Amino acid sequence: MAIIKVQKGTKDILPAEMSVWHFMEDTARKIFTGYGAKEIRTPIFEATELFARGVGDTTDIVNKEMYTFEKSERSLTLRPENTAGVVRAFIENGMHRLSAPVKLWYKGPMFRYERPQAGRQRQFHQVGVEVFGIKQPTADAEVILMAVNYLKALGLNDLSVELNSLGCPECRETFKTKLKAVIKPYLSELCPDCQARYEKNPLRLLDCKVEECKAIYAKPEIQEIIQSDFICEECAGHFNELKNYLNDLNINYSINKLLVRGLDYYNRTVFEIKSNNLGSQNAVCGGGRYDSLVRNLGGEDTPAIGFAMGMERLASLIGSKPENKTTAFVVCNQPTEAIKLTEELRSTGISAEFDLTNKKFVKQLEKASKVAKYALILGEDELASNLVTVKNLETSEQKTVSKKDLYNLL
Ligand code: HAM
Repeated sequence: MAIIKVQKGTKDILPAEMSVWHFMEDTARKIFTGYGAKEIRTPIFEATELFARGVGDTTDIVNKEMYTFEKSERSLTLRPENTAGVVRAFIENGMHRLSAPVKLWYKGPMFRYERPQAGRQRQFHQVGVEVFGIKQPTADAEVILMAVNYLKALGLNDLSVELNSLGCPECRETFKTKLKAVIKPYLSELCPDCQARYEKNPLRLLDCKVEECKAIYAKPEIQEIIQSDFICEECAGHFNELKNYLNDLNINYSINKLLVRGLDYYNRTVFEIKSNNLGSQNAVCGGGRYDSLVRNLGGEDTPAIGFAMGMERLASLIGSKPENKTTAFVVCNQPTEAIKLTEELRSTGISAEFDLTNKKFVKQLEKASKVAKYALILGEDELASNLVTVKNLETSEQKTVSKKDLYNLL
């Protein structure tokens, strides 16, 4: 019979890879808790409208990449990202009443119908942080610091932080008008996506990966507008303050005026962290400020900033970690005795196994050396004297001890 295969753009995360995933998750818990963040878990599907209004209906995510389905005449969507869901939960649970800042972190699967390639999947995982209630750039600095320190704790170096400010809706409007005017003569030469973006979301023109479009945007008169300081005095003050904090904190960054991000909710600070060791999909982290999203989704006016990281991309940078072995494997020809000791060990929190097929002693020892750190040998002599022979399977050292000493030894 034909076998059923995993869906294109999705992957099994196998036991051999689990050490790396546990490492990423445990480190997230440790680092983000250190900043006062609390974990939140929101549903994997939400009302489609949440993403249309939250992420923005001019974005690729909403227009092309959502897994949307209908149930009981409701349009539902598998979350393509988690900021909108966390904001929904923030509003619905009255979290604006909590003392600011409210810092939330999450991890879990996201779904985007994209063309799969190395580093880009249709189901992928993100770990992220959202900080609510602070408009000052100290929050921007702290959020960037959280991201950088998390990556450091994972042992990842060769990374660069890119930073930009998109200004506020008012100063951005002036910029959009200027940008459209200078691009207008080339409109017919742009790719179909850019032609649509020109009207709907001109800022996203800067993000286009099509070579012909990139060549047009590299023209001096267009670059002059892109590189100009279009943001208003207040936004510039906010951005300068952030840069000063980052300088004081010794966080290296570069300004990338082309960094506009693919989601509509951002204002002012946006940032990405890129790795020099990944191919074209080199962004491990993306984030920014979204001061209007809570209000736009029906909540109280609440400034916010956050980021998310692609965990598959992090995993590929971390590489492999040795699989966690079981602590003890009980080698014994009497299944009842083997079960008894194994269960005793497990009840004290020591991971333990024994041979369920009751094979010969030598075979059991062979199996033990594959899966465990110690073989606990219960031969006839040991059973008669109520002792256990402990064999360290890495060093082959061996010692016969009482049950009490066994626990100390393990
Ligand atoms: P994003 O830039 O769309 O931002 O995604 C964040 C990260 O998720 C990317 O930098 C990348 O590492 C990973 N990622 C995205 N799409 C894929 C994919 N198809 N396959 C593998 N990895 C992927 C957001 O999602 C925002 N919610 C971030 C944010 C939080 N902004 C403010 N708060």
